[in-house]
Amino acid sequence: MPSQDTLTIRDNRTDKDYEIEIVDGAIRALDLRKVKVAEDDFGLMSYDPAFTNTASCRSEITMIDGERGILRHRGYPIEQLATQSSYLEVAYLLIYGHLPNEKQLAEWEENITLHTMLHENTKKFMEGFHHDAHPMGVLVSTVAALSTFYPDAKDIHNEESRKLQTYRLIAKMPTIAAYAYRHRRGLPYVYPDNGLSYTGNLMSMLFKMQRDKFVANPVLEKALDILFILHADHEQNCSANAMRSIGSSHADPYVATAGAAAALYGPLHGGANEAVLKMLREIGSKKNVPKFIKDVKEGKGRLMGFGHRVYKNYDPRAKIIRDTAEQVFEVTGRNPLIDLAMEVERIALEDDYFVKRKLYPNVDFYSGIIYEAMGFHSRAFTVLFAIPRTSGWIAQWQEMLTEEGQRIARPRQVYLGSEPRNYVPLGKRG
Ligand code: SDX
Repeated sequence: MPSQDTLTIRDNRTDKDYEIEIVDGAIRALDLRKVKVAEDDFGLMSYDPAFTNTASCRSEITMIDGERGILRHRGYPIEQLATQSSYLEVAYLLIYGHLPNEKQLAEWEENITLHTMLHENTKKFMEGFHHDAHPMGVLVSTVAALSTFYPDAKDIHNEESRKLQTYRLIAKMPTIAAYAYRHRRGLPYVYPDNGLSYTGNLMSMLFKMQRDKFVANPVLEKALDILFILHADHEQNCSANAMRSIGSSHADPYVATAGAAAALYGPLHGGANEAVLKMLREIGSKKNVPKFIKDVKEGKGRLMGFGHRVYKNYDPRAKIIRDTAEQVFEVTGRNPLIDLAMEVERIALEDDYFVKRKLYPNVDFYSGIIYEAMGFHSRAFTVLFAIPRTSGWIAQWQEMLTEEGQRIARPRQVYLGSEPRNYVPLGKRG
């Protein structure tokens, strides 16, 4: 009698049965290689393009229950972290697995504060970009370039080195983002101000003009910190997968982070927040929403900011972002796009096309509307996603590196190409 935690597979090609062990709700794909039609047969593989049902790792960082719209970081519900924690504290939690005590948090914040400056040569490097270079292109390139400034980062198995690169990456992302923004505006760079909070410093480097000291509106500073908490990590999303894959070759964390940011840049991933604003502007007004929804249902485009590979219920982050918007609007004035966005959501969630496919607003649906109200240009929205997600990428990278039996990521393929054939000299080709 087969034991409880196994799968019995009957191969009808050979009438042979195989017992495959089930551990933590999964089978090891490698066990399928036992299923053969002949001794010298390679054995079975599992085919899962885009990893729709394949776990690439065992992780303790983030849990998402897509059916129930639940998101927890190291067991803590996102709703509690968003209302009670801070972005830097959540970054610490993601990377070290527990909430810091007062001393640990103070040390963590101090170490990050002391690493906000960029090497002066970075400014010369940035000057090479066209005046209207997209800030994500600048960010991806500049993060990769940091790899050349910190060759010590290659010592990836040295915990102290990983700690130092962690400080540098979390601290310098806002500075890179701000420099890219100021370069595009033709404005002088503003150096980091170590007397400000993480988000206050970013806003100072972005918006400070000829004033002695930039003081961010505390409501906006706090709202941005909440948005950063909501964007910090999201288990094995496309960019986290890129971070883990690049890191698995033992490349340094700067080039791995650059690769993760490159993946985030895509409009199907972190680039969606910018695409949502463009979509809402194209819709223009509530009276055009039914026609837009009809076009989407006819396959003439996607409802950006809607749908998710894991969430088949409302993205809990979208709910918190929408509530935070009201606090921001009290300071900035209401962004009329939010009323249009809520009308799009209302109509879509009553339409069978979206209900049947379980398409709900995701984190990107409302975030851009807040960012725009706060004075950020839509081209900066994905940069505002990459900054906080850096701590999630680092947490995933570190967990991958320290995992028992860690190996280089190298998927298999199902080969359907040509059978063997001989080379045809040029003169003899048709
Ligand atoms: C993020 O993975 C993460 O955790 C990501 C993220 C994170 O924090 O890291 O949460 C951040 O990337 C959020 C997603 C942002 N992207 C968008 O908002 C872009 C629009 N959304 C989609 O393109 C799509 O929903 C994805 C990319 C998010 C998910 O794609 P899937 O899981 O591959 O779904 P799919 O493309 O297979 O769609 C399934 C069906 C299809 O219809 P049918 O072929 O069954 O007829 O749903 C339809 C799709 O056409 N569909 C949509 C749609 N999303 C899916 N139809 C219209 N509008 C959409 N947005």
